[in-house]
Order: sequence, then C-alpha cells, then structure tokens
Amino acid sequence: MKRLSIICLFLLVWAGTMFAQTLKSPDGNLTLQFRLSAERTPVYSLQYKGKDVIKESKLGFSVRPDYQFDRNFTVTDTQTSESNTTWKPVWGQYSEIRDHHNELFIAMKQNGTGWLLNLRFRLFNDGLGFRYEFPVQKELRHFTVNEEETEFRLTGNHKAFWLPGDYDTNEYPTTTSKLSEVASLIDSVRQEPLAIRSATPNLAVQSPLMLKSDDGLYINIHEAALVNYPAMQLNLDDKGFVLSTHLTPDRNGTKAYVQTGSVTPWRTIVVSDDARDILASSLILNLNEPCKLADTSWIHPTKYVGVWWEYFTGQGSTWAYTDTQDIVIGKTDYTKLKPNGHHGANTAHVKEYIDFASRHGFDAVLVEGWNEGWEDNYAYSKEFIYDFDKPYPDFDVAELQRYAQEKGVKIIMHHETTSSVADYERQMHDAFRFMNKYGYDAVKTGYVGGIIPRSEHHDGQWMVNHYLRVAETAAQYKIMVNSHEAVRPTGLCRTYPNWIAQESARGTEFESFKGNRPDHTTILPFTRLMGGPMDYTPGIFEGDLSQYGSNQAKLSTTLVKQLALYVTMYSPLQMAADLYQSYEKHLDAFQFIKDVAVGWGTTHTPGAETRDNTYILEAEPGDYITIARKAKGKNEWYIGGITDENAREAVIDLSFLPEGKKYEATIYADGKKADWRTNPQDYVISTKKVSSKTVLKQRLAPSGGVAISIKEL
Ligand code: NOJ
Ligand code: CA
Repeated sequence: MKRLSIICLFLLVWAGTMFAQTLKSPDGNLTLQFRLSAERTPVYSLQYKGKDVIKESKLGFSVRPDYQFDRNFTVTDTQTSESNTTWKPVWGQYSEIRDHHNELFIAMKQNGTGWLLNLRFRLFNDGLGFRYEFPVQKELRHFTVNEEETEFRLTGNHKAFWLPGDYDTNEYPTTTSKLSEVASLIDSVRQEPLAIRSATPNLAVQSPLMLKSDDGLYINIHEAALVNYPAMQLNLDDKGFVLSTHLTPDRNGTKAYVQTGSVTPWRTIVVSDDARDILASSLILNLNEPCKLADTSWIHPTKYVGVWWEYFTGQGSTWAYTDTQDIVIGKTDYTKLKPNGHHGANTAHVKEYIDFASRHGFDAVLVEGWNEGWEDNYAYSKEFIYDFDKPYPDFDVAELQRYAQEKGVKIIMHHETTSSVADYERQMHDAFRFMNKYGYDAVKTGYVGGIIPRSEHHDGQWMVNHYLRVAETAAQYKIMVNSHEAVRPTGLCRTYPNWIAQESARGTEFESFKGNRPDHTTILPFTRLMGGPMDYTPGIFEGDLSQYGSNQAKLSTTLVKQLALYVTMYSPLQMAADLYQSYEKHLDAFQFIKDVAVGWGTTHTPGAETRDNTYILEAEPGDYITIARKAKGKNEWYIGGITDENAREAVIDLSFLPEGKKYEATIYADGKKADWRTNPQDYVISTKKVSSKTVLKQRLAPSGGVAISIKEL
C-alpha cells in the first residue's frame, strides 16, 4: 500500500514536471503545443495546417533584483474548455462578432520560491492569444519586471513590414524587408525627422508586426488588452528569426510594476495562408473585455471636416493667436496682445467650416488652435503650456456653439497636451466640464513631444494607464476620444467604445512633410489597424501643396485613391481633411465622401443567419487591398480598392450583394492618364447596373484606386 502511494506520488510529480498538452483550434487547422522543457521552463509552439508557425518558444519573466521567474515550475492544474459565443460591438466592421475558441489554462508553481504563475491560451480559427496571470499569493504580493521573456521563434527569414523599436513614437515609415535585413536598414530609418524619438538600445521592431513566410503564411504578431503594463517591442536575435518581448521601460529603466491578482496583456499571433483573413480577423477584439459602459447611446460614428489641413499646407495659417512667445499661461492677458492676423481658429473662419459641413451633411467640425497657449508650445520641456478652458479672444465659444447647433453640426474639441501630461491630468475634469457646458461630445487629444512626468515614455506603463484614464474619465462626461501620438491600440475600444479612434501611426499629416509612400496604406490595415481604428484623415484632393505657398510636397496617391481610403482604412471616425475650397473644385468626386458610410453592418436578428457586412475581396500587404462594406441600416454598399506604386487590375466580385435584386453602382475610377506623380487628379465617374452576378474589372493607376457606391434600385 505504502509502495503504491509512493509510486502514485512519483507519477503525480512526474506528470507535473514533464507536463505536455496539445490544443486544437475549433476548425482543427491550428495546433498549440505546450510543455515544460528540461529546465521545467514553460514552452509553446504553434502549427497551421501542419506547418510550423512558431517553433518551440519559451515563456516567463526575469524579475528584480535578479531572479529568473521562468524555470523550475511544476504544473499544479490544467483545464481545457470551449467557448462559442457572439457579441455585438457598439460600432465596428461587423454588426456581430463570433468568439469561438478553445482554451487551455495552466496553473504552475515555481519550486523553491513557491511563486504561482498561470497561463491562459485561447486558440481561435484565425490565431492564438495567450497571457500570463498572477494569482493573489502570500509569497509574492508584487514584483518589478526586468523583462518579459516571451519568445516567438519563427521558422525562417520572413518578409517583414516593420517599424524600428522606439519607446516614444510609431510615426516612422514602414520598411519592408527580410528579417535578416532589419539590422542593416534600421539606422537609416531611424534618421527620419520626427518630433520625438527614443530608439530601443538594441535591435528591435514594433508591434503589430506583419510577416509573410516564403511558403505563403501570413503572420501578425501584436497584443490585446494592454492595461497597466508597458507596450511590447520585439527584439530580434542575430539572424532576426527569433523574436522576444522587449517591454517599454520608463526613463529610469524600469519595465513594469506588477501587483499579483492581475494579468498581462494577451500576446497575439494571427495566422492564415490567405492575407484576407488577417484583415477580417476579430481575434484582438475577442480577447478584450466586453463593453464596460452601461449607456452607449451617446456614442456615434462621425464624419467630419476641420480647421486643420491649413496648418500643414504652408499657407501661413497658425494655431497660435499672436506672434509673441512671451506667454505665461494663466497670467498673460491675451486681449492685450496683438493678433498675428492669420490665426486659424477665429470665429468667422470656423463658421465657414460649419456652413460647409452643414451644406454637405457632415456631422462635425474639428477646430484646432482655439485655446490659449500655442505660442510657445514647441518648448517641449514646459510643464504649463495650455489652458483647456480658455478660448482665444477671437474664438467665441458660446456663439460658435449656438451657430453649430443651429446648423445641425457638432464642434470637435482639441486638446493638444504637447505631452505635458501631468498638467493635463490636473485640468482634465475642468476641461471635460467645459466641453459639457458648450455641447462638445468628442475630443481629439495629442501627445507631441517628450512626456512630463519626465521619467516617462509614450509607450510605458504609466502612460498606458494615462490614455485609459482619459478614455474612462471622458466616458463619465459622455465624451468620445480620438487620441493622437498615444500608444498603439490593442482592441480596448471594445471595452471603452467611446475611445473611438487613435492616430498612433504615420497619418496624412506626413503627406505635407513628403513622408508617405505609395504602399503606405496597403500596409497599415495589416499593422496599425489590427489593434483598432485609425484617424488617418484622408481625402486630400489638392495634392500639390506648392499651390499654397512655400511647401513643395506632393501627395503620394491619386485623388481616387484618397476616396478609396474611406473604405479600406476602417474607422468610425473619418475626416474629409482637405480645405473645403478643394472640395468645391471637385464636387462630383466629393460626392463619394459625402455618401460613404461611417457605420457598417446589418441589424441582426439573433439566431438568424445574416450575411456578413464587411467583405475583404483582395489583399496583399504592401501591394493592394480591395474591401466592400454594407452601410448600417441602409441597402447601400461601398467599395474601396487601392494599389501601391504599381498599376493593377482589381477584380471585384459583387456576389456579396443579396441575390435577385438590381443595383446601381457609381464608379469613381482613375482616368486613363492618372498617375500619382504626374496626373493625380485625372478621374472618371460612371454608373452601371449591377447584380450579385457582376464581376467588375477596374484598372488602378500607379498609387491609384477605385471607389464604388452601390444602391439598390
Ligand atoms: C499632431 C497631430 O497628429 C496633428 O493632427 C495635430 O494637428 C498636431 N499634432 C497639433 O496638435
Ligand atoms: Ca501625429
């Protein structure tokens, strides 16, 4: 008897230490393997249709002062389960999202310390998510992370779409190269002129990282639900094939403070042999928590224009009211200062934009440069820069609110913080109360320059908490948030749908700095947009900025490609970014921007089979994208197709349309001579009767596009 129990005990210990387990995705295409290695380090691997995606890779942490929390584990419990549910986003690419996954939960105890560490893997048909969980425990109440040591061992020298590792900006251009070439190219990409940068000290790239293997697998590595933890950069080993997490530190070098009773963000690997599946994936949203806001009725998709592009065109319009820089915020009496005569946000000019918005059916007008403090905002080291409830003397906030309301338009608030975040937090409640008082329900925030507190980076744990604090606080005031220069999104818009969009990548503003390439928007949906919508601000019709003054920049696309971006760059917040005068010169093409929806999806009856409402028709990262979407609540469909510097023929299969009905398609196409370098404004608009049996073949010019609206007859 005694011998038997000793054998049982031995078997139990053996099972705990030599543990191995396999999990399959619901459709069986993906296989996850988990085991403890010889050092009893947790390791995992991932296969897709029998091919390796991630070779056996380690998991764990090193913690301060100098301790490895990645080995000598015993598995104390495992659980597997299946979950198959659907949920409805407040807004999104789909009106309903299926969350079907198999889960493997592993509880582990470290021998010696007795510390507990759990792992949760969720395997979906489109990829894997896993995270670390730190149960509440007596022996370990809190700790400081030296580094998270999660590895992603790739199978070879994949093609990569990458941004250099950086703690403060994701506004680099994307470089496309083999992984092995990152090392030789990274220094030149880092020369890119940017407002702020803090390059990683070693060879690293940012996530979302898009990869394509030689044998045709598309792999996207990112994270979901980044809360109270720093954003992940990805270290590359010598060859570039082994990636490992590199958490963004604060300026003192500390990576993350963890209190047990918490979880890390999910590490995500979306994978398919068809690039379209990457764009169609809802894996990152599925890994985020459900909506935390009880009432979401006040959250609405928005199409807007703004007093904005004129600050970039070189025509002399300024955010600042005066030319003096001798401003002491809170003390300077602006009414005593001489206006510079070209302040953008003046009452009369804003009214012109309100009139234009109202005439053409836009929801809102963004106004930048309305508040005191812009004069000396380039002094990045200043803590006290702006007042968020003090309009400039020539911006009549009450009158503009009255006027906007009369015209059925909202004004979008702007809070550029120039990264004086401590001061923004001090002013935030007053600023939101001011917005409530004057009827604003959306704010664009901005984080240009180095962060104050000076110990912090844009992508570190403290700032990650700040951005979320702003979204949560704004929700209390029923305010939607569009953050610029914030950490890249990780699907938190599911939980806080008032966080309606972010910039967090190189947007249209860089067109005015000659900074965007023709392939840029064929990559962004595979990288930046994986975590959530982008306020890319498309719609530039007058791409030759020398028309306005000193700026010699020329747009990197044709005019029609700008139209197509309203469909290919998913966002519930879309700007028509050009000066309204540019639209007045091309009212026929402008009609597409007026018509295009910002809310997509059908109204779904539970239990009934609905057709989807976003259709990824063609996609290859860096080359082309064609997407069709159904407008919410209307029998209208919009299609956008874009290409890189190479002309191509888009094959647009309309079989997504309900059968047996007739439709009229209005096709906005590049003209025969269109070319982004020589003739970007050459376009042709035609109409055509179509049905679900139609397959359109459309020629796209170099860096061109096609935009189509379809209405039921
Ligand atoms: C950078 C933002 O991306 C841009 O949209 C804004 O106009 C400027 N900062 C000023 O706040
Ligand atoms: Ca920016």
